[in-house]
Formats: sequence, C-alpha cells, structure tokens
Amino acid sequence: MNILFAASEAFPFIKTGGLGDVVHSLPVALGKLGDDVRLVLPAYRDVLAAVDSIKEVGYRDLPGIGVTHRVRILRAHQEELGDYLYLIDVPTLFDRPGNPYVHSDGFNWPDNAERFTVFSRAVAYLAKGVPGSHWIPDVVHCHDWQTGMVPAFISMTYPRPKTVFTIHNLAYDGHFSHDDFTSLALPPEWWSLNYVEFYGGFSMLKAGMIFSDHVTTVSPTYAREICTPEFGYRFEGVLNHLGDKLVGILNGIDLDIWNPMTDSHIFKNYGYQEKTAGKSWVKNKLINKINLLKNTGLADNESENSSASAKSMPLLGFIGRLVEQKGVDLIMAMLPRLFETTDVKMVILGSGHMHYETGLKALAEQYPTRLHFHIGYSEDLAHQIEAGCDMFIMPSRFEPCGLNQMYSLHYGTPPVVSFTGGLADTVTDATPMAVEDKTANGFVFYDLNADALLAAINRALELYRKPKQWQQVCETAMQQELGWEASAKKYQELYMQ
Ligand code: ADP
Ligand code: GLC
Repeated sequence: MNILFAASEAFPFIKTGGLGDVVHSLPVALGKLGDDVRLVLPAYRDVLAAVDSIKEVGYRDLPGIGVTHRVRILRAHQEELGDYLYLIDVPTLFDRPGNPYVHSDGFNWPDNAERFTVFSRAVAYLAKGVPGSHWIPDVVHCHDWQTGMVPAFISMTYPRPKTVFTIHNLAYDGHFSHDDFTSLALPPEWWSLNYVEFYGGFSMLKAGMIFSDHVTTVSPTYAREICTPEFGYRFEGVLNHLGDKLVGILNGIDLDIWNPMTDSHIFKNYGYQEKTAGKSWVKNKLINKINLLKNTGLADNESENSSASAKSMPLLGFIGRLVEQKGVDLIMAMLPRLFETTDVKMVILGSGHMHYETGLKALAEQYPTRLHFHIGYSEDLAHQIEAGCDMFIMPSRFEPCGLNQMYSLHYGTPPVVSFTGGLADTVTDATPMAVEDKTANGFVFYDLNADALLAAINRALELYRKPKQWQQVCETAMQQELGWEASAKKYQELYMQ
C-alpha cells in the first residue's frame, strides 16, 4: 500500500521526544514489510539544513490568518534515506530556529494555530496525489495534534484516502481559541460539540479523533487508561464514544539505531548472544560504565576508576523531557535520602521546566560526586547512559508508551518504572517468583510517590548485590522482542481494514 505519514517531527531531521523516533522507525518497518511509505513534515529550518538536496514539486495558495500563503511542496533527498521525504515550505511559519513548538523563552509560538492549520491543509492537498508524480496514498497516517486537522480537511475531499490518527500523548491537545477558529476560515459547522469545539475553544487533537477513520494510541494499557477521567484529560467521553475505532498498538524500537552490539555512540559494543554466553557482555558493559563515570566527573579519584570499584557502586540513569509527566519531582524528592543511605550515583540528562532544571542543578551542587546533571539535548550521552548505567529510572505519572524503558531493556539496564501505560505493558517486576522463573526484566512500583519509588530502587539494589540473579534479569531484558515487526503488522492490518 501507499502510506503517507504526516507529522511535525521525525528523527534524524528534528526530534523533541519519542514521537520523532516512532515517525522514523515505523515507516522503516512498514517499508520492510512491502509498503511504500512517504513522510511529510513542515520545512523547519533544522530540517532544511539536515537534507542533502531539495526539489520543488508543486505549490498551492492556502489561507492563513489574514493572509494567503504561497505554500511550496518540496521533495527532499537525504543520502541514507533516499527520496521519501516531502516538506511543506512556508518560510514565515516554519523557517525558525530550535524547538518546533516553542520559542527560546519556553512559550508556545503565538501563531501555532495558523502554522499547523496551514500545514494540515497542505497535507490534505498532497493526499490527493503528489504533484507531478503518479503516487497517491491509500492511507494517510497522522500523528498527534499538529496533524489533527489533516483528517478534517481530507474528509471534505472525494475520492479520498483513508485516515488513521495516532495519539502519542493526550496531554498535548492543540487547544486554540474561538477567535483562531473564525480567523482560520474553518467550516462554521465544525464549531460544535460533535466536531472540534472543546471546552470553549477548539482542539486539533479532537479533530483528529473525530474525523479519522481509525484512531490508535501507542500501547494497549494507555488505550484503556485514556477512556477514564484520571488519564483522559477531559477527552474520555469522546474516546469512549469511539468504541472499536480506538486501538492500542505498542510501539517498537529501531534496532538499527538502538542496538548495543552496533551502537557507534557508546564506548564498547556488547550484546547478549546465546552462543557466547561467556558473559563477555558483562565485562564490556562495565567498560561503558567506567567511561561514563569518567566523562561525567563522577569517578573523581583513581580508585574509583578501577573496574572493581565501578562494579560495586550502582549507577542510575534518567533521560527525558523535564515535565510533570515524567515524575521528575519524585526523583528529586527521594534522591537526598537515596544518597544518604546508599553508595549509588546517578546521571540525569534532560531539559524542560525551569523549576525542575533549577532543582536538579541544586541537587547536583549539593552532591557533586554522586549526581551528574546534564541540561540539554545529547544523542551521544543518551546512548551512553543506556549502555553505561546499571538501572534506568522512569517514574512517569502516565506514559503513553515510553521508549526509554525499551532502550534500557535492550541495553541490559533494567528499568525501575511506575505501573502505567506502556511501562506496564513492557516491564515485568522482579518479584521473587518472576526472578525464579526468569520472566523478570525490571522493577515496578504502584503508588505514585517518592517513598514507593525509593522502595523499588532499594529492591533493585538488593538484587544488584546478587550478581547471578541480576545478570539473569538483564539477560531476560536483553532478549525481549522489542523491534517493530509485530506492531508494524498490526498497523498493516488496520490499513487493510
Ligand atoms: P517522550 O516521547 O514522552 O519524551 P519517550 O521515552 O517515548 O518519551 O521518548 C523519549 C525520546 O527522546 C528518547 O529517544 C530519548 O532518548 C529522547 N530524549 C529525551 N530527552 C533527551 C535529551 N535531553 N537528550 C537526548 N535525547 C533525549
Ligand atoms: C509520546 C509519549 C511517549 C511515547 C512517544 C512515542 O511523546 O509521551 O510515551 O513513547 O510519544 O509514541
């Protein structure tokens, strides 16, 4: 089938979180299964800089707010990925530096309603067929609120491709005002509870749910959770109404990029292989830990550089957007107690809300030999943390799927997670019975508070002191099927429907 992916971010062009990973890796997996997948993104400045060459394939004049935009459709070429990328080029809307959604001061771009409505109109135009070619999509697969208006605009065309809308995170709903709605010249009948109106404004996420032929989200547990008021962000009514139109399909990970056996970001490749079960992975993983400790300044004296010392002292990791969702406050609340009562060290990589950045900075100053906090975005360090740490901490309040716990599993770095969404679907708690029957791959806690997180970490530390059992948990994790194949097939079945 011909599938057009529409999204606002995709690795390696532009990425702020897991959405970017999935929008890259799912098309690759579908391509391996025989589909012809193409991707359309806004022509952000960073994306234009990341491609090798571009060619204009068509243009369209489309309404914005108070202006008509000349929208160019570009076909981009990049050596590794070939010609599959299209860009919607409107320099006044997208030719901006940095983060695609927010200004450098952290506030949303004030014209986001216009930016993503114009983008969606352009994608709907492209969905009729790529200008100057015979390629017409059978299905347009949209991702998150920035593309929510795509199925709405496509619904007004005939004949039309089928549409699938994937919710990656309900907390970001693309909510705009009635003024925006009227200035964007949207059909007046859409201003209704049955369409895009949502609590006095309009929601692009709701538009995606209402107008698309099928709605998916990124794990089965999250699909159930979002139908309840606790996780539904006021969309539970709409979501319940979708019935069978809503399904949860677990994300996979790209094993070409996140693979400790071939990863070029890490210090020493390793991997669990049945045939060479001489535990060489343990030795090689330790080399990653020693280098990570050195590079982060956590091994501050000669004796701590030795492998015996590095081995005995557990190292925890966290990578992520520093937002409420990720439970950063729970980490901050329990760290002093953890440092006072154990010998662990921790590396944290992330950026986000100022109060978390400030709080973590203060903790790193208070415990300079125990905590390394890197503010910012670093692909290198992200891979090195997955490879070099002993445990990965992910105490999310909610987690639609979560990729970092899956990367951790694959890197033999058991995750300590809260029981929610995709974390619940991928991590099996190391209860004595699960350790015994070799199904345990991490540590799960159930009450969302710092005490419960600390207790789970302490359980993990206890097992860490029993190398045989610990290695078994790591090996179970490393052998888990986490690639895209099974889930990509589920998407194919959905497209066939
Ligand atoms: P979310 O999409 O909610 O942010 P996921 O766990 O699904 O969470 O995916 C996060 C992705 O973003 C992972 O690939 C992770 O490594 C990456 N990431 C997040 N923050 C950073 C950072 N500061 N530096 C490098 N990579 C990051
Ligand atoms: C979102 C979610 C995360 C998920 C990712 C990719 O950003 O927060 O849980 O893994 O999208 O689907």
